[in-house]
Amino acid sequence: MSLLIRGAHQVVTPLGCAARRGGDLAKLDIRPHAVVRCEDGRITFVGEESEHGRLFGDPDEIFDAAGACVLPAFVDPHTHPVWAGSREDEFDRRLGGETYMDIARSGGGINATVRATRAASSDDLLAGTLARLDNFLTHGTTTIEAKSGYGLDLETEIRMLEVIHEANRVHPVDLHATCLAAHEVPPEYGEDPEAWVRLLIEEIHPEIARLGLAEAVDVFCETGVFDLEQTRSLLADAADFGWRIHIHADELTPLGGAELAVELGALSADHLMCITPAGIAALAGSDTVAVLLPGTSFSLRSPYAPARDLIGAGCAVAVATDCNPGSSPTESMPAILALACLGMGMEIAEAITAATLNAAAAIARADELGSIEVGKRADLTILDAPTYHHLVYHYGINPVRHVIKGGKIVVADARLVR
Ligand code: NIG
Ligand code: FE
Repeated sequence: MSLLIRGAHQVVTPLGCAARRGGDLAKLDIRPHAVVRCEDGRITFVGEESEHGRLFGDPDEIFDAAGACVLPAFVDPHTHPVWAGSREDEFDRRLGGETYMDIARSGGGINATVRATRAASSDDLLAGTLARLDNFLTHGTTTIEAKSGYGLDLETEIRMLEVIHEANRVHPVDLHATCLAAHEVPPEYGEDPEAWVRLLIEEIHPEIARLGLAEAVDVFCETGVFDLEQTRSLLADAADFGWRIHIHADELTPLGGAELAVELGALSADHLMCITPAGIAALAGSDTVAVLLPGTSFSLRSPYAPARDLIGAGCAVAVATDCNPGSSPTESMPAILALACLGMGMEIAEAITAATLNAAAAIARADELGSIEVGKRADLTILDAPTYHHLVYHYGINPVRHVIKGGKIVVADARLVR
């Protein structure tokens, strides 16, 4: 099955199969009026229409981009998309002056969602997740990293990961599962957090690894949650389990999570709102991707991560939604790009690389996703605008008009194709 996308005003993409760092984040390949050929799910040609005509026969199907900008589909490398209930009450309390941690310590926060998630059936969790995946897709995202972490007991963590796998099977969005059983200390271990850490290390992580339900592991390394020493022990078996490592690092306090991520060879260090100069230097000298989540700063009204300092130091920077019911309730990468630029001072071109190629690198998929190049998977986003600038300039609306996933049209005229 072949599909030719023609009629674009421009085809815009970062290039390569590895994260771009420092000044290279802003280097986009911009091809006016190029066509893109997709064949059996992969990209087989990007270039001038006349050359395509010389090299290839007629495609099975032609899609008219109608003067719009064609981009790689977004990859969202940090999401918590499986949960029950919602926490708009906490949002209101924060607007009234309480902090995220105040609310967490008074029985709200992650543990409020844990109560609702434990009580929900797997069918209900799946239904909620699929509804969110529809939102991801209509906003141009075709691949997400998806964390567990609202079960905080073996049974519910397994159910969450099974929901992620089932959602991956039935929905066009691809999900990459991460075990985040170390997301918080559940209430039943509130008096003895060390016992919870032992249970994670001795029973929960090994069982999830044995069942093959995750490709990566994550820990919320934060003052009052898991400290550096606990995080180190929680991640000690990751390599034996074949798990890559992500760390929620330096989100609310400057604990040194970024340095720990580098020490452990983590694929990514995420959040980094409170990263120190030493943390920035450590990341710059490593392959660990800095995944920035400006939706969380926006929603918590807290300072943004120092994106300019990270890029200036030569780090590989990606961006993600952090989609979750507490600190960042959004599935929209276009919203995140606007915040990356207007909140963190990134250039539009840098933000696009951060949301595509570098985001793919943050889940170890830069070889097949994140750019419009021959051999990569044919995952494309077509804007409702002629140039890539509109993605950020025209903020607060959904700028995505069509989405192609694996060479198939999955969103047309802003509507899901069932
Ligand atoms: O990434 N920091 C920890 N986890 C989430 C928040 C989850 C929640 O509040 O439900 C985050 O911000
Ligand atoms: Fe998160």
